[in-house]
Amino acid sequence: MPQAPCDPALREWLRALPKAELHLHIEGTLEPELMFELAGRNKVPLPYASVDAVRAAYRFTDLQSFLDLYYAGASVLVTEQDFHDLAMAYLRRARDDGLVHVEIMFDPQTHTHRGIAIGTVFAGLASALREARDTLGISGRLLLSFLRHLSEEDAFATLDAALPLREAYADLWVGIGLDSSEKGNPPEKFARVYARCAELGFRLVAHAGEEGPAAYVREALETLKVARIDHGVRSSDDPALLQTLIQRRIPLTVCPLSNLKLGVVRDLSEHNLARLLRAGAMVTINADDPAYFGGYALDNYVASAQALDLSRDELVTLAANSLQASFLPAADKTRWLDQLAVAASRG
Ligand code: HPA
Ligand code: ZN
Repeated sequence: MPQAPCDPALREWLRALPKAELHLHIEGTLEPELMFELAGRNKVPLPYASVDAVRAAYRFTDLQSFLDLYYAGASVLVTEQDFHDLAMAYLRRARDDGLVHVEIMFDPQTHTHRGIAIGTVFAGLASALREARDTLGISGRLLLSFLRHLSEEDAFATLDAALPLREAYADLWVGIGLDSSEKGNPPEKFARVYARCAELGFRLVAHAGEEGPAAYVREALETLKVARIDHGVRSSDDPALLQTLIQRRIPLTVCPLSNLKLGVVRDLSEHNLARLLRAGAMVTINADDPAYFGGYALDNYVASAQALDLSRDELVTLAANSLQASFLPAADKTRWLDQLAVAASRG
Protein backbone atom coordinates (compact mmCIF):
# COMPACT_ATOMS: atom_id res chain seq x y z
CA MET A 1 0.00 0.00 0.00
CA PRO A 2 1.43 3.48 -0.78
CA GLN A 3 2.44 5.48 2.27
CA ALA A 4 0.17 8.36 3.22
CA PRO A 5 1.87 11.74 2.68
CA CYS A 6 3.75 12.70 5.80
CA ASP A 7 2.08 15.22 8.06
CA PRO A 8 4.91 17.73 8.75
CA ALA A 9 3.32 18.86 12.03
CA LEU A 10 3.20 15.28 13.31
CA ARG A 11 6.84 14.73 12.33
CA GLU A 12 7.97 17.91 14.12
CA TRP A 13 5.97 17.06 17.24
CA LEU A 14 7.50 13.56 17.26
CA ARG A 15 10.98 14.97 16.69
CA ALA A 16 10.65 17.18 19.76
CA LEU A 17 9.81 14.25 22.06
CA PRO A 18 12.92 13.05 23.96
CA LYS A 19 13.39 9.43 22.89
CA ALA A 20 15.91 6.60 23.23
CA GLU A 21 16.96 4.14 20.54
CA LEU A 22 17.60 0.67 21.95
CA HIS A 23 17.91 -1.54 18.86
CA LEU A 24 20.47 -0.23 16.42
CA HIS A 25 23.35 -2.05 14.74
CA ILE A 26 26.14 0.41 14.06
CA GLU A 27 27.24 -1.61 11.01
CA GLY A 28 23.69 -1.14 9.73
CA THR A 29 24.10 2.65 9.66
CA LEU A 30 26.72 2.49 6.89
CA GLU A 31 25.24 4.66 4.15
CA PRO A 32 26.37 3.84 0.56
CA GLU A 33 28.15 7.23 0.29
CA LEU A 34 30.33 6.46 3.32
CA MET A 35 30.79 2.87 2.09
CA PHE A 36 32.31 4.23 -1.12
CA GLU A 37 34.43 6.80 0.72
CA LEU A 38 35.87 4.16 3.07
CA ALA A 39 36.39 1.67 0.24
CA GLY A 40 38.49 4.32 -1.53
CA ARG A 41 40.36 5.28 1.63
CA ASN A 42 41.22 1.64 2.46
CA LYS A 43 41.56 0.30 -1.10
CA VAL A 44 38.86 -2.31 -0.47
CA PRO A 45 37.18 -3.48 -3.71
CA LEU A 46 33.37 -3.18 -3.85
CA PRO A 47 31.17 -5.22 -6.19
CA TYR A 48 29.19 -2.07 -7.10
CA ALA A 49 29.86 0.60 -9.73
CA SER A 50 28.12 3.44 -7.90
CA VAL A 51 26.18 4.57 -4.84
CA ASP A 52 22.98 4.10 -6.84
CA ALA A 53 23.98 0.52 -7.67
CA VAL A 54 24.42 -0.19 -3.95
CA ARG A 55 20.95 1.18 -3.18
CA ALA A 56 19.48 -0.79 -6.10
CA ALA A 57 20.88 -3.99 -4.56
CA TYR A 58 18.91 -3.41 -1.35
CA ARG A 59 15.92 -5.55 -2.26
CA PHE A 60 15.68 -8.16 0.42
CA THR A 61 13.50 -11.25 0.58
CA ASP A 62 14.32 -12.32 4.13
CA LEU A 63 16.81 -11.80 6.95
CA GLN A 64 19.60 -13.84 5.32
CA SER A 65 19.40 -11.95 2.01
CA PHE A 66 20.01 -8.76 4.01
CA LEU A 67 22.75 -10.21 6.23
CA ASP A 68 24.77 -11.30 3.18
CA LEU A 69 24.99 -7.66 1.97
CA TYR A 70 25.37 -6.24 5.48
CA TYR A 71 28.46 -8.36 6.23
CA ALA A 72 29.94 -7.63 2.79
CA GLY A 73 29.40 -3.87 3.28
CA ALA A 74 31.16 -3.95 6.66
CA SER A 75 34.40 -5.02 4.93
CA VAL A 76 35.21 -1.36 4.20
CA LEU A 77 35.59 -0.66 7.94
CA VAL A 78 39.28 -1.03 8.73
CA THR A 79 40.74 1.73 10.91
CA GLU A 80 39.77 3.31 14.22
CA GLN A 81 38.91 6.47 12.26
CA ASP A 82 36.47 4.46 10.08
CA PHE A 83 34.56 3.23 13.13
CA HIS A 84 34.62 6.74 14.58
CA ASP A 85 33.28 8.30 11.35
CA LEU A 86 30.57 5.65 11.04
CA ALA A 87 29.35 6.20 14.59
CA MET A 88 29.60 10.02 14.42
CA ALA A 89 27.44 10.07 11.27
CA TYR A 90 24.80 7.99 13.04
CA LEU A 91 24.96 10.07 16.23
CA ARG A 92 24.36 13.29 14.28
CA ARG A 93 21.33 11.72 12.63
CA ALA A 94 20.16 10.49 16.02
CA ARG A 95 20.41 13.97 17.50
CA ASP A 96 18.51 15.39 14.53
CA ASP A 97 15.72 12.85 15.17
CA GLY A 98 15.34 13.96 18.79
CA LEU A 99 17.04 10.93 20.29
CA VAL A 100 18.62 11.79 23.63
CA HIS A 101 20.11 8.37 24.35
CA VAL A 102 21.22 5.46 22.14
CA GLU A 103 22.24 1.89 22.95
CA ILE A 104 24.35 0.70 20.05
CA MET A 105 24.97 -2.92 19.13
CA PHE A 106 28.17 -3.87 17.39
CA ASP A 107 29.38 -7.20 16.02
CA PRO A 108 33.10 -7.65 16.83
CA GLN A 109 33.26 -11.01 15.05
CA THR A 110 32.36 -9.36 11.73
CA HIS A 111 35.61 -7.44 12.08
CA THR A 112 37.97 -9.74 13.99
CA HIS A 113 37.35 -12.50 11.45
CA ARG A 114 38.78 -10.11 8.81
CA GLY A 115 41.87 -9.43 10.90
CA ILE A 116 40.72 -6.16 12.49
CA ALA A 117 41.74 -5.94 16.17
CA ILE A 118 38.82 -5.74 18.61
CA GLY A 119 40.59 -2.78 20.26
CA THR A 120 40.34 -0.83 16.99
CA VAL A 121 36.56 -1.31 16.94
CA PHE A 122 36.12 -0.31 20.59
CA ALA A 123 38.39 2.71 20.28
CA GLY A 124 36.65 4.16 17.23
CA LEU A 125 33.12 3.67 18.55
CA ALA A 126 34.01 4.92 22.03
CA SER A 127 35.70 8.11 20.82
CA ALA A 128 32.58 8.94 18.78
CA LEU A 129 30.23 8.25 21.71
CA ARG A 130 32.33 10.44 24.01
CA GLU A 131 32.51 13.21 21.42
CA ALA A 132 28.73 13.02 20.93
CA ARG A 133 28.18 13.19 24.70
CA ASP A 134 30.30 16.35 24.88
CA THR A 135 29.29 18.11 21.64
CA LEU A 136 25.80 16.84 20.75
CA GLY A 137 24.44 16.25 24.26
CA ILE A 138 23.40 12.69 23.44
CA SER A 139 24.31 9.80 25.73
CA GLY A 140 25.24 6.34 24.52
CA ARG A 141 26.08 2.80 25.58
CA LEU A 142 27.56 -0.18 23.74
CA LEU A 143 26.10 -3.67 23.54
CA LEU A 144 28.65 -6.19 22.30
CA SER A 145 26.69 -8.66 20.20
CA PHE A 146 27.59 -12.24 19.39
CA LEU A 147 26.87 -13.64 15.93
CA ARG A 148 24.54 -16.58 16.46
CA HIS A 149 25.47 -18.35 13.19
CA LEU A 150 28.93 -18.86 14.71
CA SER A 151 29.69 -21.25 17.59
CA GLU A 152 29.36 -20.55 21.29
CA GLU A 153 33.10 -21.25 21.51
CA ASP A 154 33.69 -18.32 19.13
CA ALA A 155 31.45 -16.13 21.32
CA PHE A 156 33.55 -17.11 24.38
CA ALA A 157 36.74 -16.26 22.46
CA THR A 158 35.25 -12.85 21.56
CA LEU A 159 34.30 -12.20 25.19
CA ASP A 160 37.81 -13.18 26.32
CA ALA A 161 39.34 -10.80 23.76
CA ALA A 162 37.06 -7.95 24.88
CA LEU A 163 37.28 -8.32 28.66
CA PRO A 164 40.75 -6.74 29.03
CA LEU A 165 39.19 -3.59 27.51
CA ARG A 166 36.29 -3.48 29.94
CA GLU A 167 37.80 -1.04 32.39
CA ALA A 168 38.84 1.43 29.68
CA TYR A 169 35.26 1.50 28.33
CA ALA A 170 33.35 1.01 31.58
CA ASP A 171 31.32 4.19 30.94
CA LEU A 172 30.03 2.75 27.65
CA TRP A 173 30.15 -1.04 27.40
CA VAL A 174 27.28 -2.19 29.59
CA GLY A 175 25.70 -5.09 27.79
CA ILE A 176 25.64 -8.13 25.56
CA GLY A 177 23.42 -8.93 22.58
CA LEU A 178 22.81 -11.78 20.14
CA ASP A 179 22.10 -11.23 16.45
CA SER A 180 22.49 -12.61 12.89
CA SER A 181 20.66 -15.63 11.36
CA GLU A 182 17.93 -16.57 13.79
CA LYS A 183 16.33 -19.72 12.39
CA GLY A 184 18.25 -22.83 13.41
CA ASN A 185 20.33 -20.88 15.93
CA PRO A 186 18.20 -20.93 19.11
CA PRO A 187 19.08 -18.91 22.21
CA GLU A 188 19.93 -22.14 24.07
CA LYS A 189 23.05 -22.45 21.86
CA PHE A 190 24.48 -19.49 23.86
CA ALA A 191 23.29 -20.50 27.36
CA ARG A 192 26.78 -20.91 28.83
CA VAL A 193 28.28 -17.70 27.47
CA TYR A 194 25.19 -15.72 28.60
CA ALA A 195 25.49 -17.25 32.10
CA ARG A 196 29.11 -16.08 32.19
CA CYS A 197 28.14 -12.59 31.01
CA ALA A 198 25.46 -12.42 33.72
CA GLU A 199 28.07 -13.36 36.36
CA LEU A 200 30.27 -10.58 35.00
CA GLY A 201 27.45 -8.09 35.60
CA PHE A 202 26.52 -7.26 32.01
CA ARG A 203 23.00 -6.28 30.99
CA LEU A 204 21.61 -8.89 28.62
CA VAL A 205 19.49 -8.59 25.48
CA ALA A 206 18.96 -10.94 22.52
CA HIS A 207 17.21 -10.96 19.16
CA ALA A 208 14.32 -13.41 19.28
CA GLY A 209 11.02 -13.82 17.49
CA GLU A 210 11.94 -11.80 14.39
CA GLU A 211 11.87 -14.71 11.92
CA GLY A 212 12.27 -17.38 14.56
CA PRO A 213 9.34 -18.76 16.58
CA ALA A 214 7.81 -17.51 19.83
CA ALA A 215 9.58 -20.43 21.53
CA TYR A 216 12.88 -18.61 20.94
CA VAL A 217 11.51 -15.58 22.82
CA ARG A 218 10.63 -17.84 25.75
CA GLU A 219 14.12 -19.40 25.63
CA ALA A 220 15.80 -16.01 25.53
CA LEU A 221 13.83 -15.03 28.65
CA GLU A 222 14.08 -18.26 30.62
CA THR A 223 17.45 -19.64 29.53
CA LEU A 224 19.47 -16.55 28.65
CA LYS A 225 17.62 -14.43 31.24
CA VAL A 226 17.61 -11.32 29.07
CA ALA A 227 16.23 -7.98 30.26
CA ARG A 228 14.87 -7.03 26.82
CA ILE A 229 13.89 -8.85 23.65
CA ASP A 230 15.06 -7.42 20.32
CA HIS A 231 12.15 -7.63 17.85
CA GLY A 232 9.92 -10.20 19.64
CA VAL A 233 7.05 -9.62 17.21
CA ARG A 234 6.37 -13.36 16.93
CA SER A 235 5.54 -13.43 20.68
CA SER A 236 1.90 -12.82 19.82
CA ASP A 237 1.76 -16.37 18.36
CA ASP A 238 1.86 -17.65 21.98
CA PRO A 239 -0.78 -15.95 24.16
CA ALA A 240 0.66 -17.34 27.42
CA LEU A 241 4.12 -16.00 26.52
CA LEU A 242 2.63 -12.62 25.65
CA GLN A 243 0.94 -12.49 29.06
CA THR A 244 4.30 -13.21 30.71
CA LEU A 245 5.95 -10.40 28.73
CA ILE A 246 3.16 -8.01 29.73
CA GLN A 247 3.18 -8.99 33.41
CA ARG A 248 6.97 -8.80 33.69
CA ARG A 249 7.12 -5.55 31.68
CA ILE A 250 9.77 -7.07 29.39
CA PRO A 251 10.56 -4.48 26.70
CA LEU A 252 10.29 -5.46 23.03
CA THR A 253 12.54 -3.38 20.78
CA VAL A 254 10.39 -3.44 17.66
CA CYS A 255 11.73 -2.22 14.28
CA PRO A 256 8.78 -1.62 11.94
CA LEU A 257 10.59 -0.60 8.73
CA SER A 258 13.07 -3.45 9.19
CA ASN A 259 10.18 -5.91 9.51
CA LEU A 260 8.66 -4.49 6.34
CA LYS A 261 11.90 -4.62 4.31
CA LEU A 262 12.74 -8.18 5.41
CA GLY A 263 9.26 -9.52 4.75
CA VAL A 264 8.39 -10.18 8.40
CA VAL A 265 5.19 -8.24 7.56
CA ARG A 266 3.74 -7.69 4.08
CA ASP A 267 2.48 -4.18 4.81
CA LEU A 268 3.05 -1.83 7.74
CA SER A 269 -0.72 -1.63 8.27
CA GLU A 270 -0.58 -5.35 9.20
CA HIS A 271 2.17 -4.89 11.79
CA ASN A 272 1.24 -6.09 15.28
CA LEU A 273 3.02 -3.19 17.04
CA ALA A 274 -0.24 -1.42 17.83
CA ARG A 275 -1.96 -4.64 18.93
CA LEU A 276 0.96 -5.48 21.23
CA LEU A 277 0.95 -1.95 22.65
CA ARG A 278 -2.82 -1.93 23.19
CA ALA A 279 -2.59 -5.35 24.90
CA GLY A 280 -0.22 -3.75 27.42
CA ALA A 281 3.18 -4.92 26.16
CA MET A 282 6.16 -2.63 26.70
CA VAL A 283 6.83 -1.88 23.05
CA THR A 284 9.50 0.49 21.76
CA ILE A 285 10.20 1.75 18.22
CA ASN A 286 13.69 1.46 16.71
CA ALA A 287 15.52 1.57 13.37
CA ASP A 288 17.67 -1.65 13.46
CA ASP A 289 19.79 -1.04 10.30
CA PRO A 290 18.60 2.32 8.97
CA ALA A 291 21.01 2.60 6.02
CA TYR A 292 19.61 -0.66 4.64
CA PHE A 293 15.95 -0.37 5.57
CA GLY A 294 15.21 3.16 4.39
CA GLY A 295 14.53 4.93 7.65
CA TYR A 296 16.03 6.20 10.90
CA ALA A 297 14.23 6.33 14.24
CA LEU A 298 11.97 9.27 13.44
CA ASP A 299 11.00 7.73 10.08
CA ASN A 300 9.97 4.59 11.97
CA TYR A 301 7.82 6.60 14.40
CA VAL A 302 6.14 8.54 11.60
CA ALA A 303 5.55 5.52 9.36
CA SER A 304 4.09 3.53 12.28
CA ALA A 305 1.90 6.42 13.42
CA GLN A 306 0.42 6.73 9.94
CA ALA A 307 0.09 3.06 9.04
CA LEU A 308 -1.35 2.03 12.40
CA ASP A 309 -3.31 5.15 13.35
CA LEU A 310 -1.41 5.58 16.58
CA SER A 311 -2.83 8.31 18.80
CA ARG A 312 -0.66 11.04 20.27
CA ASP A 313 -1.04 9.40 23.70
CA GLU A 314 0.19 6.11 22.25
CA LEU A 315 3.16 7.83 20.63
CA VAL A 316 4.07 9.44 23.95
CA THR A 317 3.81 6.01 25.61
CA LEU A 318 6.18 4.59 22.97
CA ALA A 319 8.68 7.39 23.64
CA ALA A 320 8.32 6.92 27.42
CA ASN A 321 8.81 3.16 27.03
CA SER A 322 12.06 3.77 25.15
CA LEU A 323 13.41 5.82 28.06
CA GLN A 324 12.10 3.44 30.74
CA ALA A 325 13.49 0.37 28.95
CA SER A 326 16.95 1.89 28.53
CA PHE A 327 19.93 1.05 30.72
CA LEU A 328 20.22 4.68 31.87
CA PRO A 329 20.43 5.36 35.62
CA ALA A 330 17.04 6.01 37.27
CA ALA A 331 17.75 9.73 37.80
CA ASP A 332 18.43 10.24 34.07
CA LYS A 333 15.24 8.38 33.17
CA THR A 334 13.21 10.61 35.49
CA ARG A 335 14.74 13.77 34.04
CA TRP A 336 13.99 12.72 30.45
CA LEU A 337 10.49 11.52 31.33
CA ASP A 338 9.77 14.92 32.90
CA GLN A 339 11.00 16.64 29.73
CA LEU A 340 8.93 14.26 27.63
CA ALA A 341 5.77 15.31 29.48
CA VAL A 342 6.54 18.97 28.72
CA ALA A 343 7.34 18.31 25.03
CA ALA A 344 4.24 16.13 24.57
CA SER A 345 1.96 18.93 25.73
CA ARG A 346 3.27 21.32 23.05
CA GLY A 347 1.74 21.53 19.59
N1 HPA B 1 18.32 -9.44 12.86
C1 HPA B 1 19.36 -10.25 13.11
N2 HPA B 1 20.61 -9.86 12.98
C2 HPA B 1 20.87 -8.61 12.60
C3 HPA B 1 19.85 -7.75 12.32
C4 HPA B 1 18.51 -8.17 12.47
O1 HPA B 1 17.53 -7.46 12.26
N3 HPA B 1 20.44 -6.59 11.95
C5 HPA B 1 21.77 -6.77 12.01
N4 HPA B 1 22.04 -8.01 12.40
ZN1 ZN C 1 18.56 -6.10 14.93
